[in-house]
Amino acid sequence: MDYLRQSAHGGITIENVRDYVVGIHTRVPLLDGSHAPYINFDNAASTPVLRPVLDKINELMNWYSSIHRGSGFKSQLSSELYDQAREQVARFVGLDLSGHAVIFVKNTTEAINKLAHRLDLSPGDNVLVTRMEHHSNDLPWRKRAGVIHIDVDSQGRLREQDLIRQLEQHRDRVKLFAVTGASNVTGWVNDIHRLAAICHRYGVKILVDAAQLIPHRKIDMRPQADPGHIDFLAFSAHKMYAPFGAGVLIGDQAVFQTGEPDMVGGGTVDIVSYDRVEWTAPPEKEEAGTPNTVGVLAMVKAMMVLEEIGMERVAEHEARLTRYALERLREIPEIRILGGDDPNQVEHRLGVITFNIGALHHALVAAILNHEAGIAVRNGCFCAHPYIKLMLGISEEEAAVIEEDIRRGDRSRIPGAVRVSFGIYNTEQEIDTLIHILQTIARREWKGEYVLDRRSGAYRLKNARIDYESYFIL
Ligand SMILES: Cc1ncc(COP(=O)(O)O)c(C=O)c1O
Repeated sequence: MDYLRQSAHGGITIENVRDYVVGIHTRVPLLDGSHAPYINFDNAASTPVLRPVLDKINELMNWYSSIHRGSGFKSQLSSELYDQAREQVARFVGLDLSGHAVIFVKNTTEAINKLAHRLDLSPGDNVLVTRMEHHSNDLPWRKRAGVIHIDVDSQGRLREQDLIRQLEQHRDRVKLFAVTGASNVTGWVNDIHRLAAICHRYGVKILVDAAQLIPHRKIDMRPQADPGHIDFLAFSAHKMYAPFGAGVLIGDQAVFQTGEPDMVGGGTVDIVSYDRVEWTAPPEKEEAGTPNTVGVLAMVKAMMVLEEIGMERVAEHEARLTRYALERLREIPEIRILGGDDPNQVEHRLGVITFNIGALHHALVAAILNHEAGIAVRNGCFCAHPYIKLMLGISEEEAAVIEEDIRRGDRSRIPGAVRVSFGIYNTEQEIDTLIHILQTIARREWKGEYVLDRRSGAYRLKNARIDYESYFIL
């Protein structure tokens, strides 16, 4: 791992991290033909890569080769790095590897699907999830168990009392509480250790979907003896500055020891005859096929860089940005923020701010931000349809009408909002640019003419064709 730790750069700090973001100076076209610096406020979806991560991966290519069973020097070096990556990931999340499996997958969605397949669930078993989950931490459970949704309050925060009530009511038939570390819609951070301690009182294990939390807060899974320990953890590298297709599932080795892996093939076995298979031990048993060595090592390097910056510094910087943004967003007439809009609550939330302006279509606002300010956001339902409907107060009757539209291929009335989400490198100046354009939008004084594409639900600039090939070709 020392190989990954060495770096050609000076020290990265929260103050200078912007100098290390690949593509930070890329300018993008605006509707008037000019170009503007790209402002990426879509970090909750995916982050850019950090220079030390990319440099290290480029350097690694000189040594990259097939891993495990390869006899050559490069294969053995690559295998060594891949195997050590599990220890590095464990260290990053405060995990004692003994008795645990660190399984490499492609993203959080795959991690949760895998756990849903591999957890010992019988007919009649329930999994508790919350009303604030991303689909990836809800739908996999619906396939495998009875799902009970834990309530949220009017601001979209988890109701602990409802968790306790459901645990009391279903205590013997609950196998797991699957909860997000932080919401990708409202940014609320859940107190995962408190929730874990509650679950453990009832003998129920907890999975934390850390897709949103991991790039923003220090995560400590804590020792098994601690009532607040985290049993299972899932996250994706592309949300933590290493977008090379790796993700992680961490959990009790015993869960993966028995039974068949969800995906089978090369690498998962010790013995195979024409009529018999003996599986190898986890984590390898759970990683069918050639693994994503490059993605995993990029993720480990990103973890090293985040550690170098310091997760405390990351959290402080993002809290400052979020407070500033919430204060300034108050200047926008007719703005409605989903969840909390109190700048004093930044300790309990991430820099994920979701809003609407009056009756303006979220897709129109997003298109204007792109074409008239070079600002990247996300709009729509953020893969959390039920939570968004709840937060927007959409009735079942209204939802039924919209669902009928969607079945007919018309997505124009899909409810939703606009989401800005900050990363370690965003600045107050970028937020100033956002506020300026939002004021223009609130005054209905945008420049372009936009047309709604009913099929996709997106707004497009009228009569404009962007020549993407003039920007990048393979
Ligand atoms: C809270 C949460 N969970 C799960 C996911 C799924 O992550 P991935 O798409 O990397 O599988 C996301 C992605 O946005 C998320 O925000």
